[in-house]
Amino acid sequence: MKLKEQDFINTYRDISYPDKIDLSASAPSNIALVKYWGKHGMQLPMNPSVSFTLNQSRTNTTAHLSLLKLPSKTVEFQFFLDQKPRPDFEPKIAGFFEKIKVYAPFITAFHWQIYSQNTFPHSSGIASSASAFAALAKMIVDLEKQLFPSHKDDNYYKKKASFLARLGSGSASRSIAHPVMIWGKHPGIPDTSDLYAVAPDFELHPVFKNFRDSIILVEKGQKKVSSTAGHNLMAKHPFKAIRKQQAFLHALQMTQYLKSGDLDNFIKLTEAEALSLHALMMTSDPNYILIQPGTLKVIQLIRHLRQTLNLPVCFTLDAGANVHVLYPDKISDNLEKYLFSKLTYEIIHDYI
Ligand code: DP6
Repeated sequence: MKLKEQDFINTYRDISYPDKIDLSASAPSNIALVKYWGKHGMQLPMNPSVSFTLNQSRTNTTAHLSLLKLPSKTVEFQFFLDQKPRPDFEPKIAGFFEKIKVYAPFITAFHWQIYSQNTFPHSSGIASSASAFAALAKMIVDLEKQLFPSHKDDNYYKKKASFLARLGSGSASRSIAHPVMIWGKHPGIPDTSDLYAVAPDFELHPVFKNFRDSIILVEKGQKKVSSTAGHNLMAKHPFKAIRKQQAFLHALQMTQYLKSGDLDNFIKLTEAEALSLHALMMTSDPNYILIQPGTLKVIQLIRHLRQTLNLPVCFTLDAGANVHVLYPDKISDNLEKYLFSKLTYEIIHDYI
């Protein structure tokens, strides 16, 4: 069933809360095959996106909640990354809490001590916002379940977690379930919504079952242009209309390939999407370039391997220089021999 914004508002009032609660949640990162690029309103996507959920790259979060003596208007919290206080992250989290307050008003009753840890190296350049906000959102939904036992089912709570995560970071909406998630309303894909991501109504074809994503860290460290700034540049992008059309078509085609197991077309489309994303950055005003010479080198090696050895391997990119190498598990040895061992970059081996 499709849910509306009002369905996520928690209307319970005046219950007595426990003095202390401990919560914990873990959420994975995800890699978009069809990219979310451009947004409007309250974190609503310009187009639908489709992603694989990763397994190893995760954020694990715990929180110690203590009931406040007097209710507060804003959420009172402290944030620790790897056990160290990180006030520099607090404005973004405070903004998230502000946005979700109306859907989860009970969060203001407590002081939150939040401890977060990523399983991937902090300086790796892997975006942690998707897994981080997904973990926080899952925790808040868990708290809601504990405080307000109701007849709502698991499906509702998953959608609510995705809805809340989206308000922290768009791509976080897709880090709630696996192995494939679709975020953004598409007339040709059942049950899709701009408000939350859903798992498709079909089984992922077995050719994708043991798919791997090896992330080649061409460039470590913070991105030079944030995704949020990039999304905003889409509002007046000269190719906005055509990109929208392209992404709607690609989202539909991608779901068809994931269902039918059409690996050749999957490879073609995945790379086309990655290159479109970076072409949009290179043609926005101001324009910018995030790929590096090393990115192109890896791309060329992958294409060479495909042509010469006929290996079903392809790449995708996120908003940075790192290359995600996607391939079935059974060709892992070949890739180790002909690609990974030839590179000096650090590589994170993950799978969907
Ligand atoms: C290129 O979700 O990081 O990775 O909503 O502003 O937090 P905000 O942006 P974010 O953008 C991700 C962009 C992307 C493509 C994708 O994941 O779909």
